[in-house]
Amino acid sequence: MSKTIIVSNRLPIKIDASEQGLQLKPSEGGLATGLSSVYKNGNNVWIGWPGTEVADEQAKQVTSQLKEMRLSPVFLTKDEIALFYEGFSNEILWPIFHYMSPYARYDDKYWLSYQQVNEKFKQAVLQVAEPGDTIWIHDYQLLLLPGLIRAALPDITIGFFQHIPFPSYELFRLIPWRSELLQGMLGADLVGFHTYDDARHFLSSATRILQVKSSSNVLTVHNRSVVVESFPMGIDAEKFEKIGEEQAVRDNITHLQESFGNTRLILSIDRLDYSKGILQRLQAFDCFLQNHPEYKEKVSLYMIVVPSRDTVGQYKELRDEIDKMVGNINARFRTNVWTPVNYFYRSFPIEMLSALYSFADVCLVTPMRDGMNLVCKEYVASRSNNDGVLILSEMAGASKELIDAIIVNPNNINQMSESIVEALNMSTDEQVKRMTQMRSLVSKYNVNHWVKIFMERLEETKRMQQSLQAR
Ligand code: G6P
Repeated sequence: MSKTIIVSNRLPIKIDASEQGLQLKPSEGGLATGLSSVYKNGNNVWIGWPGTEVADEQAKQVTSQLKEMRLSPVFLTKDEIALFYEGFSNEILWPIFHYMSPYARYDDKYWLSYQQVNEKFKQAVLQVAEPGDTIWIHDYQLLLLPGLIRAALPDITIGFFQHIPFPSYELFRLIPWRSELLQGMLGADLVGFHTYDDARHFLSSATRILQVKSSSNVLTVHNRSVVVESFPMGIDAEKFEKIGEEQAVRDNITHLQESFGNTRLILSIDRLDYSKGILQRLQAFDCFLQNHPEYKEKVSLYMIVVPSRDTVGQYKELRDEIDKMVGNINARFRTNVWTPVNYFYRSFPIEMLSALYSFADVCLVTPMRDGMNLVCKEYVASRSNNDGVLILSEMAGASKELIDAIIVNPNNINQMSESIVEALNMSTDEQVKRMTQMRSLVSKYNVNHWVKIFMERLEETKRMQQSLQAR
């Protein structure tokens, strides 16, 4: 029986090395929930890195535990974590793909390690892949992998999905290894992005850099067709609707009511990342308090920043900048009964996130660039009363779908500040009208729908190729 092999840099389970020893913990990411319906079926399997460097003996023990869960670990060494993950993936691809080119540090050592680790993932795939299988590869850490697998297994079905933006040709061509990266991606039969613009940028880079032929969204590569399309990713909307009814969430809401009383809350949740526009958001909140003193003691920003990649220099600096800016705003505006910015640098359990989504009057999601952004969809899915206001950056992929949000340009601080006033004054009727539209979209185009349409399109693409080859 043929199977589906999912490959991503991270597994949906991570190893947590604490003083009590190694523990396996689920990752809360959208990908993990979305793909659980796939990898838990039949003989399917998920290949990826469990997130921590472990000794050989521990690796053996963890491998057998993970295998029972259909997870096949690829372990990275300390050097690989520094050069492949922190280096090439997060100091070259991440900044370039998020339009932050001055942050990129081109280093041959990073490139060498990126090739080696993609090769390591290929070996892991070849250990389990059989003719007739489908391989679904995810994200920018593994751009070479489709090409490497194609060379080893010419007829196998390969899908590739990129979760972050694909930049315009002018940005992408800055990368010294641009041709090799594109060739790698073109090993897939189907290349998917969140938005039509990302797909368009990719097609433009492929045709201009590699001079491959294109007809609409189909590229011809060595007599093979590669289909390029957009598949906007959804969330497990039902999970966010249901969890709001649990007792633990209700208790958390009661605590929030006790702590904040009549103060209205604006919610902000991100991973620590310069692409998320956290500093600009704080600037906008500062501007809002300065220009609208009537809201003092009436509105607070509840800001969660989830620690991430803090071994990379730019992330450490960002963390310090956030600390400074939050301190500055609070020092200037705080009163004995009110803290303007309630800032948390840590991750929160889902029961608390759900309570915050239900409780907050406004959710402020203003990335400078974001492939999709799932936080805004989670907020919408959690609003079972159909009220609440979403302020969303036009630079997030989600803004193409959630057009009933207040859409802002995250570089326009004044506009963001005024959008907070607009949100706080929006009539309940208007809130309900907009939120109902967004909720129906988030619930219909959920993560299962995303998996289904990608897989169906992949099968269709393969059938089309086979019939062309048979002619
Ligand atoms: C983004 C990327 C993912 C990545 C995640 C967390 O969502 O698209 O590929 O796994 O960030 O980042 P991390 O570096 O911790 O894996």
